[in-house]
Amino acid sequence: MTENDFLPGDYQNLPEQGKVTWKAPSNIALVKYWGKRPVQMPANPSISFTLDACATTTSVSFEKKNTKDGFSFDLFFEGKPKDDFKPKIQTFLERIEMYLPFLKEYHFTIGTSNSFPHSSGIASSASGMAALSMCLMDIEKQLNPKLDDSLFFVKASYLARLGSGSACRSTKGNLVQWGAHQNIPNSSDLYGIEYPFEINPVFKSYCDTILLVHKGQKQVSSTVGHQLMHGHPYAENRFEQAFSNLDRLKPILADGNLEEFIELVESEALTLHAMMMTSMPYFMLMKPDTLEIINKIWEYREATKTPVCFTLDAGANVHLLYPEADKEKVQDFIKNELAEHCQNGQYIHDQVGLGAIKING
Ligand code: DP6
Repeated sequence: MTENDFLPGDYQNLPEQGKVTWKAPSNIALVKYWGKRPVQMPANPSISFTLDACATTTSVSFEKKNTKDGFSFDLFFEGKPKDDFKPKIQTFLERIEMYLPFLKEYHFTIGTSNSFPHSSGIASSASGMAALSMCLMDIEKQLNPKLDDSLFFVKASYLARLGSGSACRSTKGNLVQWGAHQNIPNSSDLYGIEYPFEINPVFKSYCDTILLVHKGQKQVSSTVGHQLMHGHPYAENRFEQAFSNLDRLKPILADGNLEEFIELVESEALTLHAMMMTSMPYFMLMKPDTLEIINKIWEYREATKTPVCFTLDAGANVHLLYPEADKEKVQDFIKNELAEHCQNGQYIHDQVGLGAIKING
């Protein structure tokens, strides 16, 4: 599909008002997206587990307005006005306007809340932009009931990407791939697709415990980090590596080869952070406790042969990945050994999930 496929058809009716609510999960990348070109096109393909418990629920109420000059919206986060999110939403609406021309017909009241603790430091842009995109597509569906279901989800992912790249991997489950790759049919830089190859059952219920190492504001945002891949001395090799890691993953995901899965996933996480440390200006998002945790995971894996591994996103938190069959012992290990490295002892148990869902009422 191309950009033109996302231009809307004729709207048959414009309701005076209405309200839609969607819940969209967060995701954790196995092969990382790091580096992009305008507008929101990834420098390399990526793939992620869709999560379940960590999610954003967003309601959008819409009401016909008299003028069509400009966007009109109010934003509430956990019930309170949230004006500092408004510029990001404004930019998002400007980017998607040509695909959803009804945006200037209505005044919108957007209410959003996260399932995870407010200041946990978990990036909510993926789940937040995915939930908002699902709501906007739901409104489009009301205006154009002929819109078919598969286009509905693909276009939601397309819109979400324009809000935040990784958000396009949060509309569907359980493994979503984003970024054109010659060996992955239907893969696209424009939206995420459900992983089209065999997935061993072990990965369909994989567990992810998010260890909250540092809850404060990050020193360098993802958006800035992506930009620093321009002119980065290792960028081209890194992008090629991501392409080949997606090829390597295919048999690993089909066979459930956990040893190779662990090696690939941990290498991706450390490469992401190596790119940060070798940017100019260079920066580091890992904290001493991030490293303490990684070392303890390696020791535990060596001693017990439990197939547990880590990955990192653009921050200090550690995602601990393990099969559901090992849940009990790994969660004991977390409680007894790793919790002490988490800020206020906080961590969140999550698991691979199925993607965005509509909430009635
Ligand atoms: C390290 O999707 O947050 O989590 O497109 O600028 O919103 P923007 O960036 P974002 O970057 C995510 C980077 C990452 C890796 C990943 O999720 O693939």
